[in-house]
Amino acid sequence: VIDIRKLYAQTGMFTYDPGFMSTGSCQSAITYIDGDKGELLYRGYPIEQLATQCDYLETCYLLLYGELPNDVQKKDFVGRVTNHTMVNEQMQFFLRGFRRDAHPMAVMTGLVGALSAFYHDSTDINNPEHREISAIRLIAKMPTLVSMAYKYSMGQPYMYPKNKLGYTSNFMHMMFATPCEEYEPNDVLVRAMDRIFILHADHEQNASTSTVRLCGSSGTNPFAAIAAGVACLWGPAHGGANEAALNMLEDIQRMGGVAKIGEFVAKVKDKNSNVKLMGFGHRVYKNYDPRAKLMRETCHEVLDALGLHNDPLFKLAMALEKVALEDEYFVSRKLYPNVDFYSGIVQRAIGIPVSLFTAIFALARTVGWIAQLNEMISDPEYKIGRPRQLYTGATRRDVQAIGQR
Ligand code: ACO
Repeated sequence: VIDIRKLYAQTGMFTYDPGFMSTGSCQSAITYIDGDKGELLYRGYPIEQLATQCDYLETCYLLLYGELPNDVQKKDFVGRVTNHTMVNEQMQFFLRGFRRDAHPMAVMTGLVGALSAFYHDSTDINNPEHREISAIRLIAKMPTLVSMAYKYSMGQPYMYPKNKLGYTSNFMHMMFATPCEEYEPNDVLVRAMDRIFILHADHEQNASTSTVRLCGSSGTNPFAAIAAGVACLWGPAHGGANEAALNMLEDIQRMGGVAKIGEFVAKVKDKNSNVKLMGFGHRVYKNYDPRAKLMRETCHEVLDALGLHNDPLFKLAMALEKVALEDEYFVSRKLYPNVDFYSGIVQRAIGIPVSLFTAIFALARTVGWIAQLNEMISDPEYKIGRPRQLYTGATRRDVQAIGQR
């Protein structure tokens, strides 16, 4: 067996692979994707089973510890997470420094990064106990932070967590209750939100997860590494696609709705237009993203529960999907709906503002980032991530005095 890393180090050879199209950056036992089949497994369990038979905190436990919890383990884990839902009271003053119209992802990048200043008793990434407590803190506090960012943007008072509620109901309480009015949890909506969390919990070595691993590989603290993941997720080619997909559907609706799909698709196919069909295509899935299927089902459930089955955006999305799946451009490139195509419609129906979609994705993905970080740090062979480059700049030259340049 040739140790390719040693060989490359000895000979000075390295591979050149922009966008990491065919480079495995690590070994991982957490999430498996078969892009051709459209299969997604967390620790071996199909996403369809997890999304319909488990809740988000059970899924978190599975991703972190490798097995689904039994009753006792679940109770203990839920108790530990629930103990940490509050954030340090000083955080609200930090939040007040932001403009109220700041994008929630700008605010979240700051807030999550700031956790390392507030919880500096757990910042040694090489200490398993520190990693454990920061994992629990991050999972517990993300809903509180997202809802604080939302309430701040609305000019409303923050709602403190209500720990008698479950994880997802608590999030919805912090989002939608006011001091004047309780939030009455609707089971269908809570379940839909919980499913959104499950579907977004991990997705192997995507851009933000690779960012978290690379950032953590320098030995920085867990909160800083997760903040880097939040920043990366923001981009429209990644987590920002759910916001972009809903904006796209609303634009088509304004143009005239279903009747304008042909015109829109023609624009997407025109390579000079720079317009993409947002929520379509994936680096790994060359088949239907299984999460998109579950999201489409959830869309039906939520819209039915709210009496919105004639929702024009949902109808538009389904019609657009049908046109794209029959179009040679999309078929030949194996472009199918991804999770973001329908998740925006569900979130909008639940009452989540579009600008918060990516922050909710970050909330859900936090557990995946932590599990991946833990896996990397626990590997005795892990090294600082340090890609090489193909240098294309000037050859050696001498500095001229300023008057001679
Ligand atoms: N609309 C139109 N054309 C597309 C789309 C799209 N959504 N996605 C890919 N293509 C085209 C490309 O233009 C390219 O065409 P070409 O061969 O004629 O040049 C071909 O399909 C291959 O696409 P690449 O960009 O090479 O694929 P890559 O793996 O680099 O990109 C990505 C994947 C970024 C997800 C891309 O499909 C995209 O931008 N989709 C829209 C944004 C989106 O939905 N992102 C969410 C991803 S899932 C997630 O992060 C949770």
